[in-house]
This record gives sequence, C-alpha cells and structure tokens, in this order.
Amino acid sequence: MKDLISLADCTADQILGLLDLADELKAKQHAGEPHRMLAGKSLAMIFEKPSLRTRVTFQTGIFQLGGQGVLIDTTLGKRESVPDVARNLDRWVDGIMARTFSHHHVIELAEYAEAPVINALTDLLHPCQILADTQALREHKGHDLDSLKLAFVGDGNNVYHSWVNLAAKLPLNVTLVCPEGYEGDGAILAAARATAKGRLDVTHDLEEGLRDADAVYTDVWASMGQEEETAVREKAFAPYQVNGAVMALAKPDAVFMHCLPAHRGSEVTDEVMDGPRCIAFDEAENRLHAQKAVMATLMG
Ligand code: CP
Ligand code: NVA
Repeated sequence: MKDLISLADCTADQILGLLDLADELKAKQHAGEPHRMLAGKSLAMIFEKPSLRTRVTFQTGIFQLGGQGVLIDTTLGKRESVPDVARNLDRWVDGIMARTFSHHHVIELAEYAEAPVINALTDLLHPCQILADTQALREHKGHDLDSLKLAFVGDGNNVYHSWVNLAAKLPLNVTLVCPEGYEGDGAILAAARATAKGRLDVTHDLEEGLRDADAVYTDVWASMGQEEETAVREKAFAPYQVNGAVMALAKPDAVFMHCLPAHRGSEVTDEVMDGPRCIAFDEAENRLHAQKAVMATLMG
C-alpha cells in the first residue's frame, strides 16, 4: 500500500489494520504515551479547498508522531504542472496530503511522487473521513459491522462514495436515501456491488431507507465547489432534512453521524445535532487518530 487515494484500492485486511492502529493510537494519545513513529519526517499538506478538521488533524497528527506538516494553500496545475509539483515535493518530504477539486490531480500526484500520497478529499472521494467514521461506528456499535445498516440521507457525494467503497470491503449495509437525480456515481456503486458482502441500496423513500437503520448519516446539500447550485439543491433536499421525526424512522438506538461542517437548519436540525444520539464530534476527534494511523502506515 503506497498511497491512500481510494478505499477501493485497499484490501479488507488493510482497512481493518488501519482501524485497529487508529484505536491503538487513540488509546496512547488519551494515556499521554508518546508515539513518535515518524520522528523527523515531513508531510506536505496541499489545500485547494477550505478546511477546519482535516487541516488541524493532519498538522497536529504529524506533530504528535514526531514529524512536521508544511501547509501549501494553492490551486494545482496553475503555477506549474501537477507532475512537476510531485517531482519537487518528492525531493523534500516523506508524504503528501492533498485536498483538491479534481480527483485526477491526486492520482497524478501519486503517479509522479515516490512519496505516499493521501487523499484528504476530492470532488469524488473522502476516504480519511470514512476511516474516522468507521472507527466511531465501531466504538458505538461494536466491531461486528456485519448486521449494521447505515442510512446515508442526502447527496450521493464524495462522502457517500467513500462509504460505498468501504462497504465493498467490509460487511456493512449502506442505503442512500436521496431525491431523484442525486444518486451519485453509478460506476462506483456498480463496482462496489460486484464484490460487496452487505447490501448497497438506493431509495427516494425516507421510511423505507431509514427502516431498521443503526446509523443515520448526512452531509451538506451543496459540497465545496457546488455553491452555485445551493438554491436548487435546497429545494430538492428540503424533504430529506434529518430532524427528530426522521430520526424516529430509524432504530430507537440509532446514532446520528455527520462529517461536518453541519449546516444547522438545512440538512440537520439543532435538535438532532445537539441530541444524545449525535456522534459527529467523536467522528471529528477520530479524524486525528485515523489519519495518524494512515500516516504511520504509509510514511513509517
Ligand atoms: N469533515 C471534513 O473534512 O472537515 P473539513 O472540511 O473542515 O476539513
Ligand atoms: N461533501 C462535503 C464534505 C465536506 C467535508 C464537501 O465536499 O464539501
């Protein structure tokens, strides 16, 4: 495993290995035990899009592992070609993290850099998010994901695609509950269905989609880069707001998950965000631990 571009490129054992290491690093962090597994190493952190969680957790994470992060706010491909950026960084750093619009740019970085490349969100995928989320899901629902159903309510976007990729490897059932026209990338779903052990369903019906759900997940209606579509999307997604009534359609002990940032009053209400079933801030914490596991594995 050289890079983490997509969970579709990982084996089930590799994913489970990352999750177990994330648990171990979380325990060490909480116990105050040093774990300087990447002493003296550097991570280049490329951001084309805004970030709170990803930026802080990668920078803090590499520091806690004994290394340092170097922030690069840029638009790839403008000042110089993406392969040249990769060739330069390769001479200096031990790992490259990139948050880009074009998914192809992350693939190109990985192709031209010998250093490991970590996808920190593209228009297509967000694998680090789903590793942290799965760590949180295991903490709240146990390590046996087999019988669990996650209902993803909202847009078939980058976060949903990465859930689909995870469900192709681990036996989790994922149902997308979305308005018509927002079902996501059919090729990603078809490829995952070909090997998935669990069910990967898509429905437009909230009652059907949320029935027996153990986790209800949502994300913003307009992702970064889709701001111009906000008005159209608000109209289409309004019936799919995760509020108390929607949570009541899932199992009584279902958890509520959100990758954040949350747009309170749009895709989720305060009642749900601030309610006892919300584990969004556990997910956010786990970004730190899961990404430390990814860095320690790829850059060690
Ligand atoms: N969830 C997530 O990736 O958050 P940021 O956009 O703040 O990094
Ligand atoms: N789908 C969202 C996720 C943000 C973490 C976006 O791409 O903006």
